[in-house]
Amino acid sequence: MEKRYAIILAAGKGTRMKSKLYKVLHPVAGKPMVEHIIERVIETKPEQIVTIVGYGAEKVKEQLGDRSEYALQEKQLGTGHAVLQAAEFLKDKTGTTLVISGDTPLLTSQTLDNLFAYHQGKNASATVLTAHAEDPTGYGRIVRDHVGIVEKIVEQKDANEQEAAIQEINTGTYCFDNEELFNALAKIGTSNAQGEYYLTDIIEILKNEGKTVAAYQTADFNESLGVNDRVALAKANELMRERINHQHMVAGVSLIDPKTTYIDADVQIGADTVIEPNVQLRGTTVIGEDCLIGANSKIVNSTLESNVEIKTSVVEESVVRAFADVGPYAHLRPKADVGQHVHIGNFVEVKKATIGEHTKVGHLTYVGDATLGKDINVGCGVVFVNYDGKNKHHTTVGDHVFIGSSTNIIAPVEIESDSVTAAGSTITDNIKKGDLAIARARQVNKTGYASHLPF
Ligand code: UD1
Ligand code: CA
Repeated sequence: MEKRYAIILAAGKGTRMKSKLYKVLHPVAGKPMVEHIIERVIETKPEQIVTIVGYGAEKVKEQLGDRSEYALQEKQLGTGHAVLQAAEFLKDKTGTTLVISGDTPLLTSQTLDNLFAYHQGKNASATVLTAHAEDPTGYGRIVRDHVGIVEKIVEQKDANEQEAAIQEINTGTYCFDNEELFNALAKIGTSNAQGEYYLTDIIEILKNEGKTVAAYQTADFNESLGVNDRVALAKANELMRERINHQHMVAGVSLIDPKTTYIDADVQIGADTVIEPNVQLRGTTVIGEDCLIGANSKIVNSTLESNVEIKTSVVEESVVRAFADVGPYAHLRPKADVGQHVHIGNFVEVKKATIGEHTKVGHLTYVGDATLGKDINVGCGVVFVNYDGKNKHHTTVGDHVFIGSSTNIIAPVEIESDSVTAAGSTITDNIKKGDLAIARARQVNKTGYASHLPF
């Protein structure tokens, strides 16, 4: 196979986004657009990837890391000028160079492979990836001659009426013979409506030199959506969501209402898991088989083993082990580790705490900075008092402990196995194995006193 190279265009500011965040870093399905691009590009197995950076260069580099080399485009003089910046890395290499924009996140590696194959099959100097658009507004138009051979690409702002009516658009993705690319780039001018160096002019330049130029039209226009503003960003998210949801359903996950199910690109879900409406599964979340994720839950960067049930709850950076159930209205904050068969009930908050198997934390309780053993019953309204205003302190609770309702556990404290705290206790001292701790004032009844009160 011929050597492949790739150039990712990511130097533009994205003026039309009207944003402090650089355009290619805006997320689609929870991931920056340019991240989608580099992942697809890597799947085509290039020898080298050069990303053109300018606005937000440091942030883009931070995102892509050492998966790419970088060429700085100091002034954004157009897409042709941008590609030229890769010359120092690629100029004299032999092979095929893919040029792709950082703002077309829906393109698939299958389509890119098809483009490479078509380009090679035609033995072309340049092949542009095109699509048929119902509404071509904003895109460059593909001008073909009477027998259908590509002549040039005309930008919207430079198009005459006849050209503007063309519905075949430039996706901004191309394969080039690498040497021809850099030869032709030197010949691009700026005599156009925007006064920019248009990469698109290369097609006409090569054509006039008698070189073979080709256009490969992909069937699905949606894949080529270019995100220039927030309207297109929302559309890209919608289309990506449909694609992701479809993939999960085909793989055996039930989505009760796919239209209101938001699953980020890297989330994994096991078969026979059921996802109710209005659920958000974010980041690097991994969910096992046979789980139920109840309506309105949000799960972020967390791992759920199999047979877990989450009812209308928020789970962040936590682990929930097999057969555990959580909620409704529970909040697992970072570093909660909920053991097998654990029950976390309503209005329970857990943070940085490990909870052993079969333990129950049923109602209105805060567990923070704690290690709990197995088979513990935590009553209603228990507070693990972990913060003294300055520092956080840890609580350890052994197996088979019964924590009475409304117990305050003032950390640091250790409660050994098989012990009990009386309801309403404020525990400040360690409790030995098998002991009962009572820490509350005795009740006093004042006979008949109620009638003396002013109400
Ligand atoms: C471009 C194409 C258009 C095509 C469309 C597809 C040109 C002249 N036009 O238009 O034919 O239909 O993409 O989405 O190529 N960039 C740089 N440096 C620059 C200018 C742009 O790196 O100096 C980068 C941008 O960050 C962006 C990409 O190139 O990722 C495309 O630029 P953009 O301004 O979005 O081009 P379009 O107007 O969409
Ligand atoms: Ca664009």
